[in-house]
Amino acid sequence: MLPHTKSCMMMHPLPLVLLLLLLQIQLLAVSSHPPWAAGTFINHTAITHARCLPDQASALLRLKRSFTTTDESVAAFQSWKAGTDCCSWEGIRCGATSGRVTSLDLGDCGLQSDHLDHVIFELTSLRYLNLGGNDFSLSEIPSTGFEQLTMLTHLNLSTCNFSGQVPAYGIGRLMSLVSLDLSFQYEIIELFDTGFAFSGDFTYDGQLMLSNFTALVANLTSLEELRLSWLDMSDQGDKWCNALAKYTPNLRVLSLPFCSLSSPICGSLASLQSLSVVDLQYNHLTGSVPEFFANFSSLSVLRLSYNFLEVWVPSVIFQHDKLVTIDLHRNHNISGNLPNFSTDSSLENLFVGKTNFSGTIPSSISNLKHLKKLGLNALGFAKELPSSIGRLRSLNSLQVSGLGLVGSISSWITNLTSLEVLEVSHCGFNEPIPSSIADLNKLRKLALYKCNFSGKIPSGILNLTQLDTLQLHSNNLFGTTQLNSLWELQKLFDLNLSNNKLNVIEGEHNSSKVSFPDLWHLSLASCNVEKFPNILRHSSNINRLDLSNNQIRGSIPQWAWEKWTDSDLFFLNLSHNEFTSV
Ligand SMILES: *[C@@H]1O[C@H](CO)[C@@H](O)[C@H](O)[C@H]1NC(C)=O
Ligand SMILES: *[C@@H]1O[C@H](CO)[C@@H](O)[C@H](O)[C@H]1NC(C)=O
Ligand SMILES: *[C@@H]1O[C@H](CO)[C@@H](O)[C@H](O)[C@H]1NC(C)=O
Ligand SMILES: *[C@@H]1O[C@H](CO)[C@@H](O)[C@H](O)[C@H]1NC(C)=O
Ligand SMILES: *[C@@H]1O[C@H](CO)[C@@H](O)[C@H](O)[C@H]1NC(C)=O
Ligand SMILES: *[C@@H]1O[C@H](CO)[C@@H](O)[C@H](O)[C@H]1NC(C)=O
Ligand SMILES: *[C@@H]1O[C@H](CO)[C@@H](O)[C@H](O)[C@H]1NC(C)=O
Ligand SMILES: *[C@@H]1O[C@H](CO)[C@@H](O)[C@H](O)[C@H]1NC(C)=O
Ligand SMILES: *[C@@H]1O[C@H](CO)[C@@H](O)[C@H](O)[C@H]1NC(C)=O
Ligand SMILES: *[C@@H]1O[C@H](CO)[C@@H](O)[C@H](O)[C@H]1NC(C)=O
Ligand SMILES: *[C@@H]1O[C@H](CO)[C@@H](O)[C@H](O)[C@H]1NC(C)=O
Ligand SMILES: *[C@@H]1O[C@H](CO)[C@@H](O)[C@H](O)[C@H]1NC(C)=O
Repeated sequence: MLPHTKSCMMMHPLPLVLLLLLLQIQLLAVSSHPPWAAGTFINHTAITHARCLPDQASALLRLKRSFTTTDESVAAFQSWKAGTDCCSWEGIRCGATSGRVTSLDLGDCGLQSDHLDHVIFELTSLRYLNLGGNDFSLSEIPSTGFEQLTMLTHLNLSTCNFSGQVPAYGIGRLMSLVSLDLSFQYEIIELFDTGFAFSGDFTYDGQLMLSNFTALVANLTSLEELRLSWLDMSDQGDKWCNALAKYTPNLRVLSLPFCSLSSPICGSLASLQSLSVVDLQYNHLTGSVPEFFANFSSLSVLRLSYNFLEVWVPSVIFQHDKLVTIDLHRNHNISGNLPNFSTDSSLENLFVGKTNFSGTIPSSISNLKHLKKLGLNALGFAKELPSSIGRLRSLNSLQVSGLGLVGSISSWITNLTSLEVLEVSHCGFNEPIPSSIADLNKLRKLALYKCNFSGKIPSGILNLTQLDTLQLHSNNLFGTTQLNSLWELQKLFDLNLSNNKLNVIEGEHNSSKVSFPDLWHLSLASCNVEKFPNILRHSSNINRLDLSNNQIRGSIPQWAWEKWTDSDLFFLNLSHNEFTSV
């Protein structure tokens, strides 16, 4: 175990980040000890002998003063007191015998400053520097100074609210660098049918830019991990790719999502045989998915979604037995077939939705016993949907579509008791929605649309209390639906019942009811609605509202206009009603 953990690690609001940090600590604890931590990990007697040198303490205290005093900074710097041994301060480690600071970790401490102070460059023995997750107020990363930290192996300036140019010629001089993280961390919510959205507070408007990628990596020959998500590299052409191939032969982790990359993946990248994580999602990449990825013996993650890749994807890539995640979705012009899968596969996440993939879904898909997320929502899939999917017990997300798919989900769907996301769309099943769907009590997102599902909406859906998304539009459903019963689903934010043969009414109002779901999306087009839905009185965050093709009479209520002027409404369709005034 670690001798001491950093207290500010525990304060971070995002459990996900916390989890990552904990994971990291465990990894450190079990893996071979990194050189910068040798003193503290191996010989505890030795630490007591190496006291902090005065110039190191003084630099650290000046660094501390460069941050604004806040509750967070008081907590983070509680142990940073003049006159005490700086090697024992929170977040600091020293070399075993030198008394010089080798590791400075202020990651996720919630600190705030209007600049990164140059005093940090006086800590010239630093091997590990993490300032990730603090707020530097859109200032620029110092263009000079980094070159003084010649021993640095780990540099982390992730999500620091910096702006402007990355100082390629300063950071690019750190020849010992093993890990470089200048990424912006974010969380993405996938929306069915429409794309994606970012969750939470998205106020980092100062995007970092890099105008010469080659200059950054040309001397970083030891680099194993490179994370630069959201860094604007739009004018780099394919230089980024050739530079990596040429200068970073030991690269294991390559993570460049949202970097505005717009070239093919270059052939020379084939030389980076150590790659285990390749994440190039959300760019403008063109060309093909190279077959050489299948030759990388350690490849575990390949994420290329949301690009403009095309042509045929060699199916041998799917058969790589170390591969845990392959995500190719939203490359509309890539084609391919799924191969037969073997029981040796490690696949947990497989996404080929919104592509030109076609052919049959092999029944050997049930050999993928570790599968958690399966996205097969490509229109080209045809023939029988294999019921063997019902054997994938650990599946928590399933998306299927296929205009030529036949079969039925009702015989096996209830086997998938871990399901949280179920999307079945663009198919021709011609069957009622199985009432047993109510047994899938972990479901958060249920989207069964454009599938010609018939019959009534099973009442058991109201038992799915975790539902935040319910989309049943464009089917053949009929019967009466009471909105007031749907509002029992307190987490609902996306409801779409449009284009069925439903009669949607307000229903019985329970006057003691005080809390309502906070809807973002409401679509009730062609639902025989006669009254303006009352729920809109309670929805301040509505940004998509479709009530078209109904029989709503009279005028649009004044309170509705008032709500909409306060919200971010960007899609509104009230056409084809019987309004008498607007
Ligand atoms: C730990 O360091 C002390 C002082 O440098 C040394 O005397 C001792 O032998 C070391 N112990 C081990 C187990 O290396
Ligand atoms: C960089 O720091 C952030 C915040 O502490 C952390 O979430 C991230 O995992 C770190 N990156 C690396 C490569 O360790
Ligand atoms: C980034 O800095 C700007 C300018 O100080 C500030 O307005 C904004 O809130 C900061 N963003 C975050 C997420 O800290
Ligand atoms: C790479 O290192 C050499 C020798 O230290 C130096 O002359 C050169 O400027 C460096 N290149 C970059 C791009 O920093
Ligand atoms: C980018 O940096 C490399 C290496 O330092 C240099 O050779 C090249 O001329 C630079 N390119 C531009 C456009 O400045
Ligand atoms: C993969 O490796 C094999 C054997 O090393 C080699 O023959 C083949 O050309 C490689 N394929 C690609 C696409 O690099
Ligand atoms: C797909 O290919 C067609 C025809 O070549 C082209 O018109 C279209 O823009 C491409 N779409 C995407 C998303 O790449
Ligand atoms: C989609 O796949 C079909 C069948 O494999 C192929 O004939 C067609 O050309 C592909 N379309 C595009 C845009 O790649
Ligand atoms: C998969 O296996 C089936 C029978 O086991 C065989 O008919 C089919 O051709 C195989 N498909 C591929 C793509 O290898
Ligand atoms: C449902 O699960 C049981 C137990 O794992 C299994 O025997 C059965 O074949 C599954 N049903 C289907 C249709 O896959
Ligand atoms: C939809 O289902 C109905 C019967 O439920 C059937 O008559 C109709 O042909 C189906 N439509 C399509 C497009 O499959
Ligand atoms: C819904 O839950 C209630 C109470 O747990 C139960 O009595 C009822 O049978 C369930 N309805 C369906 C359709 O599963």
